[in-house]
Amino acid sequence: MKADALGRKFNTLRLSLTNVCNLACLYCVHESDANSQTFLPTANEVQSQGKKILSVKQFVAVIKSLLRHTPLKTVRLTGGEPTLYKDLPELINALKKLGIPRVVLTTNGFLLKRKAAALKAAGLDGINFSLDAIDKEIFFKMSRRDKLEATLEGIDAALENGIKVKINSVIMKGVNDAQVLPLFDFAVSKNVVIRFIELMKMGHLYKGHNDYFFSEENILWTIAKKYDFQKKLRPTGSTANYWETREGYKFGIIANESSPFCSDCNRLRLDSFGNIYGCLSSNDGISILGCLDDDVQLEQRLQQALKQKQTTKFTGSDLSMKAIGG
Ligand code: 5AD
Repeated sequence: MKADALGRKFNTLRLSLTNVCNLACLYCVHESDANSQTFLPTANEVQSQGKKILSVKQFVAVIKSLLRHTPLKTVRLTGGEPTLYKDLPELINALKKLGIPRVVLTTNGFLLKRKAAALKAAGLDGINFSLDAIDKEIFFKMSRRDKLEATLEGIDAALENGIKVKINSVIMKGVNDAQVLPLFDFAVSKNVVIRFIELMKMGHLYKGHNDYFFSEENILWTIAKKYDFQKKLRPTGSTANYWETREGYKFGIIANESSPFCSDCNRLRLDSFGNIYGCLSSNDGISILGCLDDDVQLEQRLQQALKQKQTTKFTGSDLSMKAIGG
């Protein structure tokens, strides 16, 4: 496909497998919906607005068509909570068979204890765990579910199965900002890289995000209370800035607000119903199911998605990450 004026095109796909989640995190779910979250055994049967989540066969057909237009180097499976997608190992296996070099997963991790071995066997190349607190009560406050222990067991299971692990922690002022150092120390103890994430203007906090915003500068200032560190060069297309402590521990910050990375963003998003998006700031999904065999139409829709990208600053949207994935 043709690159845009900034030289951007798509080489990473973030695939939202379901818009259902088994946590109800503060930044994703409004209080009024916190108890309507369901613990569904399989998301595959979930209908949303009369539409059905795509099957493995359908996802594979979509990605096969995309591959004719753009060489996807990474497919990141996300959600909602992607481990609720019943046929996750089959999907991973099929994507590896298509020749995707990196198939990775973003998960809250609390089902990983029973799933890690099968995911590894299917060919999964890495997992980013969302972990916003290491203290039981603060974990509950952030996620509204009592699942810290299961999550930590999930991280251990991934490590025991030899899966490459990273930790992602969204920091919210007044809720879990006191967890920055404990989370950092936890990551060090597990010898994994942690990335702190600035709260983004998404979903029900699209307008109210200032009340909870904890900046990159604040995160760095907090870590500096205990560690000396130096900034590393940011690789092109990376969402995170990285630092390294004097002891050699690497950590990152994904600072959408303070240090936007729109200008070299190479990500394409696909939701669980077959709509593509060029940016989280756009909640206008572009359906491609009807034109998988029509190269002219497909290229046109990919270009339309590319136009959704912002140039300098992430503006956000009222779409929750639950629908489109982080
Ligand atoms: N701001 C920042 N990160 C978010 N995530 C979900 N919603 C937001 C938001 N509003 C994160 C999740 C997870 C990843 C998928 O996206 O915590 O780490």
